[in-house]
Amino acid sequence: MEYSRQTAEYLTNRFGSPLYVFDEEGFVRNYRDLETAMRSRYENYRISYSFKTNYTPYICSVVKRLGGYAEVVSGMEYAIARKVGFEDKHIIFNGPDKGEESEEAFLNGCMVHADSLDELGRYCAVAEKHPEQSFQIGLRIHLNIAEGFVSRFGMDDNDAREAFRVVSTIDNLRISGLHCHISRCRSVDAWKKRTEYMLTLADQLFEEVPEYIDLGSGMFGSMAPELAAQFDEIPSYDDYAQVTAALFEEHYRGGDRPLLFTEPGTTLINRFVDCITEVKAVKQLAGHSFAVMNASEHNLGETCRLKQLPIQVIPRAAERYDYENIDLTGYTCLEQDVLYSGYSGRLGTGDVVVFGNTGGYSNVLKPPFIRPNCAMTARKADGTFVLIKSAETCEDILRTYVF
Ligand SMILES: Cc1ncc(COP(=O)(O)O)c(C=O)c1O
Repeated sequence: MEYSRQTAEYLTNRFGSPLYVFDEEGFVRNYRDLETAMRSRYENYRISYSFKTNYTPYICSVVKRLGGYAEVVSGMEYAIARKVGFEDKHIIFNGPDKGEESEEAFLNGCMVHADSLDELGRYCAVAEKHPEQSFQIGLRIHLNIAEGFVSRFGMDDNDAREAFRVVSTIDNLRISGLHCHISRCRSVDAWKKRTEYMLTLADQLFEEVPEYIDLGSGMFGSMAPELAAQFDEIPSYDDYAQVTAALFEEHYRGGDRPLLFTEPGTTLINRFVDCITEVKAVKQLAGHSFAVMNASEHNLGETCRLKQLPIQVIPRAAERYDYENIDLTGYTCLEQDVLYSGYSGRLGTGDVVVFGNTGGYSNVLKPPFIRPNCAMTARKADGTFVLIKSAETCEDILRTYVF
């Protein structure tokens, strides 16, 4: 979002600084863009939002309002999904070690995905203990699609076949779907490979059509042009839909159609949270210029370590100077805490700097290191702002320590 000086000052006076700002309208547009691209090729498509990426309840409740499912990987995330009001049948429970709460989720009818035969054994035992109830389970499939590393997740084909054999011995349990996810490969080609692989495997494993196939996530999402320019190629949602939804349509034409899920996290949220920060000092050391900011790389999330985030500098300082290659650095005592390296332009102590693309793995991954985290506000469609996360206090952080 673009901020006027007046809006930035209004927000920081009202909610403090630094401050996260969630752009609800932009997020909804992005959600709809992805959904439309996929549904226009395969109607039975559903979004399941990856909570781990940013589980702020207000954001999750927007997903629920839009008809999305929740993708959770722990008892904590399961509790958030239920508190936000997701029905169990609309919750996908993934993860290599989900915790005991996943057995409760299994009993409640969530779509639980067993990551290993050992884990599957635990759900089999729960099903056998409750012969009066019918259960369903999904399998996470290990993908080995030659992307240069061996993923540690899921079951290979042999284990998946064994899972089908084991489950066939339990009357009140059936396997209803398959899931996969692979990170570090966001190319269209990687999505084509995983789609073809999952369609073939589903044909081999199921006597009939499965209820669903979940392809995980790992798409490039919507991003500001300054950020997009730092990548070789950014496929559109249509490009991804061509090699996923369109292949499903072709494969299942004329027969039963499984639900197709993807689990977007960063894809949906990254662009739609900004972090408003302030310049606290500017100095020259050994011919190098540094600005000290009131935020750290931990506030901004993973993208700031990989790329230059899009920034907007809002002049507010009484004295401002031109700089070449000034580093905007964080409040921590770590040398590597650089929020933006090599900014060239006018800057002064007191200026506001807004970092874009801070939605993923930011507030949820901010450690209680040196300072508690800041507040978050949402800009609603009518242009008003509401508080959706209070600033943390020292008491919040220290509550679990024994003095
Ligand atoms: C199982 C699973 N689903 C979905 C996601 C979210 O993917 P993305 O952020 O690329 O949309 C992740 C991220 O690691 C994941 O592990």
